[in-house]
Amino acid sequence: MDTLKAIMSRRSIRKFKDEPVSDAAIKKILEAAMNAPSAGDGKPWHFVVIRDHDKLSTIADNVDEGNQMFKQAQAAILVVGDPSKEGFPGFYPQDCSCASQNIYLAAHELGLGTVWIALWSVKPRIDGIRAVIDVPENLEPFAIFPIGVPNEDLPEEYRYDESRVHTDKW
Ligand SMILES: Cc1cc2nc3c(=O)[nH]c(=O)nc-3n(C[C@H](O)[C@H](O)[C@H](O)COP(=O)(O)O)c2cc1C
Repeated sequence: MDTLKAIMSRRSIRKFKDEPVSDAAIKKILEAAMNAPSAGDGKPWHFVVIRDHDKLSTIADNVDEGNQMFKQAQAAILVVGDPSKEGFPGFYPQDCSCASQNIYLAAHELGLGTVWIALWSVKPRIDGIRAVIDVPENLEPFAIFPIGVPNEDLPEEYRYDESRVHTDKW
């Protein structure tokens, strides 16, 4: 898929079919995530692939208010920030955001769907994910992406807004 086409047609997918997602597809998504830019090339991230359906179900209850999407998903990718690896202090949320956007786009390219479920700065969700995935205390659960074959077909949205563009001065 053309890069601009992928960016303009990507949507958040929250309904998944009961169809498999291969390990090869998950690997490609992780490759894309780890190819993201990061400040000072610090790469201050880790990724946890969750395949276990019991854990996905507990994550649904602990993190996403019982929402069905984690129960339908074939996998989830948890993005974890590692402040000790930052190229410059304080940049891991921006770096993990770049990796997260690549997860969205790679899944889309592969015909899969996902949605960014926020953890960063949402303490009950961070506590909820720590209870399922034994993330070390010095690392920061950042976001989690359920992955599956889309069971909804959302249209492209064109969001360009001329009023948000300023040229040479405000
Ligand atoms: C930082 C961030 C946090 C988000 N957190 C959630 C979330 O917790 N739950 C959810 O259902 N969607 C979440 N989303 C998805 C947004 O709701 C979605 O991107 C937005 O509504 C635009 O729709 P689109 O992704 O289909 O273009 C998040 C997206 C971003 C970028």
